[in-house]
Amino acid sequence: MAKKAWGGRFASRTHNVAEKFSESVSFDRRLYKEDIRGSIAHVKMLHKTGIISREDADRITRGLQEIEKEIDRGEFAFSRSCEDIHLNIEKRLIEKTGSSGAMVHTARSRNDQVLTDTRLYLKKETGEIISLVCALARQFVELAAGNLGVIFPLYTHMQRAQPVLLSHHLLAYYEMLKRDLERFSECLIRVDVSPLGSCAGAGTSFPIDRKMTAEELGFRSISKNSIDAVSDRDFCAEFVFCCSVLMMHLSRLSEELVLWSAKEFDFVDLGDGFTTGSSIMPQKKNPDMSELTRGKTARVYGNLSALLVLMKGLPLSYNRDMQEDKEPLFDTVDTVKLCLEVNIAMLKTLEFKEESMKKALRGGFVTATDVADYLARKGVPFRSAHETVGKIVSYAESEGKELADLELSEYRGFSEKIDEDIYQVITFSGSAESRNSLGGTSAANVKKQILAARKFFKNFM
Ligand code: ARG
Repeated sequence: MAKKAWGGRFASRTHNVAEKFSESVSFDRRLYKEDIRGSIAHVKMLHKTGIISREDADRITRGLQEIEKEIDRGEFAFSRSCEDIHLNIEKRLIEKTGSSGAMVHTARSRNDQVLTDTRLYLKKETGEIISLVCALARQFVELAAGNLGVIFPLYTHMQRAQPVLLSHHLLAYYEMLKRDLERFSECLIRVDVSPLGSCAGAGTSFPIDRKMTAEELGFRSISKNSIDAVSDRDFCAEFVFCCSVLMMHLSRLSEELVLWSAKEFDFVDLGDGFTTGSSIMPQKKNPDMSELTRGKTARVYGNLSALLVLMKGLPLSYNRDMQEDKEPLFDTVDTVKLCLEVNIAMLKTLEFKEESMKKALRGGFVTATDVADYLARKGVPFRSAHETVGKIVSYAESEGKELADLELSEYRGFSEKIDEDIYQVITFSGSAESRNSLGGTSAANVKKQILAARKFFKNFM
């Protein structure tokens, strides 16, 4: 049974159940590299400011480097009775370096230590997530560039609405992911703050140099209020919020891929490597990766909710409740990275089925708006034009015809303003091409969007 780092005032040991209940080393051990980095920077500063000797600083630093290797190699004996990763490492350091190791915690508390570790960790992970989101966003841009000219039925209310370029639809995902990239970058500014030196919450009487440790650890800025610094978990909630919005986007993509790969749509083929079969129905090719991405979105939302509720009404400053921030945070990081990785890989196998899209464009009167616009351009007020075309659609439906199949005489039965040129207006490509308003679906616009997107990536990374 290890002696507690804080055991001085206690006459009897912690109950076994209490130890099991309150430990965090089973999950916060993932912070060991950050913990060691933070301690090395702290010790370097303690020496530079004359708080500890060079010999002690060197011994501690070497000890910590050895401990890192022990953990890397899986040789480190984690102990639940040492509570968390911070105390586990400190105990081993003292075992290895004696009274030198016992100085590492001078002018520091676990309250600022845990935040230093978490912020360093989140900085690294946010960077990785940004790279993955960038890779996914790029894929949409390149898919859009590679499928220019393919016409796709846009849906509203899940009913066929208007012909658009498939590329335009794909670029909608680029726009969502671009906002995600911007959100993560913004969030990173608030993550990238050094809390080290806030100690238990009131600062310290030692002549520490917080600028030095912040620089040493590569933090962009330094927290201004020690009480806020040890109480703040906003950056965790904000990060998980950014992840939640990203997951919302991925879940919408997933839903579309689930629908599009169903025979009823048959718009895409997902690679065999990313679909699964059924144990009973030999014909099945299921879009499980998309379904799971959609499902895992719930976990991330749950994690956001857990963090917000965890912090609601907590008095300043540190409370042990806050230890509960880690599992939702870690789970979010793992889930989001996996979802991004699988979707990036799966999209590479995606094949669009142009013929099925063409088929879906037929029978839905998707160019009805174009006929109404045609009449409006000829001076018919849009509302009356809408009414007239409604009647034309109803007539065509009863005749079992498409808008393109109606004779000019049939059109003219509804409006004298309709001439031969109506047939140019109601082709699917003509319809898409005519929507050249800013942000609209015409090929010229879509090409501009692709160029702008490529430029964005050049400047962003
Ligand atoms: N394991 C703790 C956490 O994750 C570290 C901070 C503990 N501080 C304390 N005063 N008990 O929050």
